[in-house]
Amino acid sequence: MEGVLTLFSDFYSALSQVNGFVTPKLAKRFPENFLFGVSSSAYQIEGSWNIDGKGQSTWDYYLHKQPDIVEDGTNADVTTDSYRLFKQDIQMLKHLGVKSYRFSLSWTRILPDGTTNHINPLGIAHYRKCIDLLLENDIMPLVTLYHWDLPIAFGKNGGWLNENTADRFGDYARVAFLAFGDKVKHWITINEPFIHCSFSYGIGLHPPLIKSPGKGFYECGRNLLLGHARAYHIYDEEFRFQGGKVGLVVDAQWPIAATGSEEDTRAVKDYLALYVGQYLDPVLKGGYPQRLLDLVAAASSRQGTESRLHPLSEDQKEYIRGTYDFVGINHYSSLMVYRNESVIGMYDEPSFYDDVGIGTYMDDSWPASSFDNMRDYAPGFYSLLLYLKDTYDNPVVYITENGLPLSSAEGLDDWKKANYIRHYLDALADAKADGSNCQGYFIWSLMDSFEWASGYEYKFGLYQVDFEDPDKKRTARKSALVYKEIIRTGTIDVSYDPNPYQHNGTVY
Ligand code: NOJ
Repeated sequence: MEGVLTLFSDFYSALSQVNGFVTPKLAKRFPENFLFGVSSSAYQIEGSWNIDGKGQSTWDYYLHKQPDIVEDGTNADVTTDSYRLFKQDIQMLKHLGVKSYRFSLSWTRILPDGTTNHINPLGIAHYRKCIDLLLENDIMPLVTLYHWDLPIAFGKNGGWLNENTADRFGDYARVAFLAFGDKVKHWITINEPFIHCSFSYGIGLHPPLIKSPGKGFYECGRNLLLGHARAYHIYDEEFRFQGGKVGLVVDAQWPIAATGSEEDTRAVKDYLALYVGQYLDPVLKGGYPQRLLDLVAAASSRQGTESRLHPLSEDQKEYIRGTYDFVGINHYSSLMVYRNESVIGMYDEPSFYDDVGIGTYMDDSWPASSFDNMRDYAPGFYSLLLYLKDTYDNPVVYITENGLPLSSAEGLDDWKKANYIRHYLDALADAKADGSNCQGYFIWSLMDSFEWASGYEYKFGLYQVDFEDPDKKRTARKSALVYKEIIRTGTIDVSYDPNPYQHNGTVY
């Protein structure tokens, strides 16, 4: 692997000189303490699904039982084998020069049946080894407690539709704070409530395959918020002396009105209320956005029922409000949004689609990845960062995921991804200059891994993984070397490949 790395390094530095990669006049500089990092998650990279006392998660169980859940029939029993190869992963992190690594703990590696009835010492020992090695290499761990791999016993019992799951999540968080909180100072409670609730409890695409797009989708969101708040309060009341910070991660793409019509402008606001406000408002402001409550109430009344989104009680509002020390945002792309009543009735039951009645598409002029549904449009990222600043009183934000998938055909020569990273960091630098309190940026992902229901075809990695190889050989792509250079210099300069889009102020 070293040989390949050196070859690309030489190639890259030669190219940098020719093109003047760091031109002091144009380069935008990030502050010394800006957290450059990369992300991953347990089920997607660990493998060793039944090793050293690990219990089964919903993903283990359902993918063994029903492999057709995944497009290519694969699962993550082995995947990148990172449970065994974590030392190699940490060498890669070192090579990149990242200051932080975001990874998740597998709940059932620590608590095999999901409850504190049995704590698995081997699970704890494994993560302690990882954390120690990261710290020895000056890499700050940013640890996600829940990245979708729910203990199967809870999955069979309604999963996140059951409020009991939120309580058990709090118990698990306490064990993690106790076991690792002397070393881990940055915690994420849950990852992506919208995607998790819509896929697992709305349209039934992910385990536990519950199809309830009109009700379950909202109940899942509420219980995730309660679980998040419970973990936050446990930290706040019992572990604050450890001196750490706790936040949640929300997925937020940027909606742009397809036309100047009043309806499309409204559609953008509806989009933000459903996808972003539903989760951020209760935590950062208190309660659901009124707009969302009104939309769901109106749709429910058309359907002849009481509102499928119950407002949070005053106690719940109080419990959830203010439970953050930072906000994590996963952002990938922008979407053109328009009023589209034809999505109403898409399912044979009420759904969140009915509630907002909007259609989305990606503009053809935005450079595509290998997949049409993932495109490079960094001005939307700039607008999102300023929207968060203006809407939520400028919280500390970490971009906990950003990245572009390529197909296997693209191999190591992934300039599209390298350029995407440069465009997005350029936009981030502009947003910071305009007052955004964004303090970190994490690329999804360190290496190729199991992409949930899409299997292995989406290659998000800065490092390519040879899944045919028993040693799961990892090789740096060009994007890794570009990112490494950005981190090394602390600057971003897109002047040698001008970003086709100008940031001409906020577009929201
Ligand atoms: C969202 C999820 O957090 C992560 O697990 C997934 O692989 C990436 N984004 C890419 O889709």
